[in-house]
Amino acid sequence: MSKTFHITTFGCQMNEHDSEIMAGMLTEKGFEQVKERKDADVAIINTCSIRENADKRFFGTLGQLKRRKKEDPGFLVCVCGCMMQQQHIIDTLKSKYPWVDVIFGTHNIHQLPELIDKALSEKRKQIEIWPDGGEIVEGLPARRLYTCKALVNIMSGCNNFCTYCIVPYTRGRERSRKPEEIVREVRHLVRDGVKEVMLLGQNVNSYKGDSETDFAGLIYRLNAIEGLERIRFMTSHPKDLSDRLIQAYADCRKLCRNIHLPVQSGSSRVLKRMNRKYTREQYLELVEKLREAAGDITISTDIIVGFPGETEEDFEETLDLVRRVRYDSAFTFLYSVRRGTPAAQYAEQIPEEIKHQRFNRLVELINTISAEKNAGYVGRVERVLTEGPSKSGSQTYCGRTDGFKLVNFKGSADMIGQMVDVEITEGKTFSLEGRVIGG
Ligand code: 5AD
Ligand code: SF4
Repeated sequence: MSKTFHITTFGCQMNEHDSEIMAGMLTEKGFEQVKERKDADVAIINTCSIRENADKRFFGTLGQLKRRKKEDPGFLVCVCGCMMQQQHIIDTLKSKYPWVDVIFGTHNIHQLPELIDKALSEKRKQIEIWPDGGEIVEGLPARRLYTCKALVNIMSGCNNFCTYCIVPYTRGRERSRKPEEIVREVRHLVRDGVKEVMLLGQNVNSYKGDSETDFAGLIYRLNAIEGLERIRFMTSHPKDLSDRLIQAYADCRKLCRNIHLPVQSGSSRVLKRMNRKYTREQYLELVEKLREAAGDITISTDIIVGFPGETEEDFEETLDLVRRVRYDSAFTFLYSVRRGTPAAQYAEQIPEEIKHQRFNRLVELINTISAEKNAGYVGRVERVLTEGPSKSGSQTYCGRTDGFKLVNFKGSADMIGQMVDVEITEGKTFSLEGRVIGG
C-alpha cells in the first residue's frame, strides 16, 4: 500500500507554494496526500518565523505529535521552512523534541523525497540545512490548491534587512528566476486551465531577470501570453516601485488593478529606524501616481504597531496616513521581537498594553474605511473568477474581483474556474455579496 502524507503550512504564500511543490514531489513518488493529519504516515510541518506567535503554534503542533509518535513509531515527522534556518531552533528541536525525524530548511525543499527515503531506510534522524540558496532548482512539480489560479515564484530571498524582519536571515539573498523559465511555466499552467497567476517574491519590484527584463518587463511579457486572463503579484516594496511598473497598469489589460504595498508605518522617523528607505511623503506620492495611472486600483498594506521607540505622535501619523490613503484592506501586526534582528536590540521596546491599545484603534479605523469602500461597490457589476464553494454553505460560491475583493454569490458547481459577471448587492467589512448576471 502506498504511503500517505499531510502538510501543515504556516505563514505566507511563499510557504504555501513551497508546500504545493513538496506535495507535487511526494505525489510523483507515489505517496498519497490526505486531508487529516491523523490519517497520514508522514506529517510535514512547514514553519514560519515572521512573528513569535508562529513559533509558538509550531511548538504546540509538535507537542500534539509526540503522542502519535509514541503509539506508532513508524509515523514520520518532518519539519521545514523558515524556523529551521535558525540555529537556536535546531538546538531546541534536538534537545526537547527528539521525536522529529527529518529537518530541512528553505533552500533545499527539493531534497524532501530523498530525506524521507533515508530516514526510513537508515532509521535515524536526518538533518540537512543549507546556509544559503544555491542555483534555483527548476522544473519541480507542484500540486496546486486551485485549478483556475496558481502561485508562481519569480524570485526568492530578500536583501533589504528591514530592522524588525527575520526574512533576510531565513530566506537568504535575492535570486531571480530567468524570465524564459517563468514564461514557460505560465504557458504550461495556462494549458492546464489556469486563468490567473500570482507572482511571488519578498520584493518583486527588485526582480532582475536579465539585462532587458526587470519586473515591469516581466509583466509585459506575461501579458502577451494567450489564454492567461489575470496577473497579480506580491509583495511590493515601495522603495523599488518603478514608474515603468506604474505604466504597466495602464498598458497591460491582464494586470489586475490591485496592489499590496506594505507601508509598515506612517511616520518617516519610524520608517527610517525600520530601514525602509522611503518617507511618508514618498509613499503618499506613489499612491497618487498609482491612482493616476489606474484610477480604480485597490490598495492593501501591512502595518506594524508598537515598533521600538514609536511615540503617540508617530502612531497618529500612521492613523493619518491610513485616512489619506483609504486602504481597501490592511494587515496589522503587533511588533514582535525577532532574535538576531537589529530592532531586537533597540532599547525603547513598547509596553504590551500600549501596543494593544494602538492596535485596536488602528484596526477600528481600517475596518470602518474597508466597510465604507465596500459599500461603494453596491450596484456595480464586477467580473469574478469563481474559485469554489464559499464558507457560508449551500449553493453559495465565492471568487475574487479584479481588485481582489472576495465576493459571495448564489451559483452552481459548473461556475468553478469560470469568469462570471456579478452585480454587487451588499458591501461588508471583509467581503461583498452579489448575484450573477452573466457568464
Ligand atoms: N513584528 C511584527 N510584524 C512583522 N512583520 C515582519 N516582521 C515583523 C515583526 N518582527 C510584518 C510586516 C511584513 C509582514 C509580512 O509581516 O508588516 O510586511
Ligand atoms: Fe522583511 Fe523588509 Fe525583506 Fe519584506 S522587504 S521580507 S519586511 S526585510
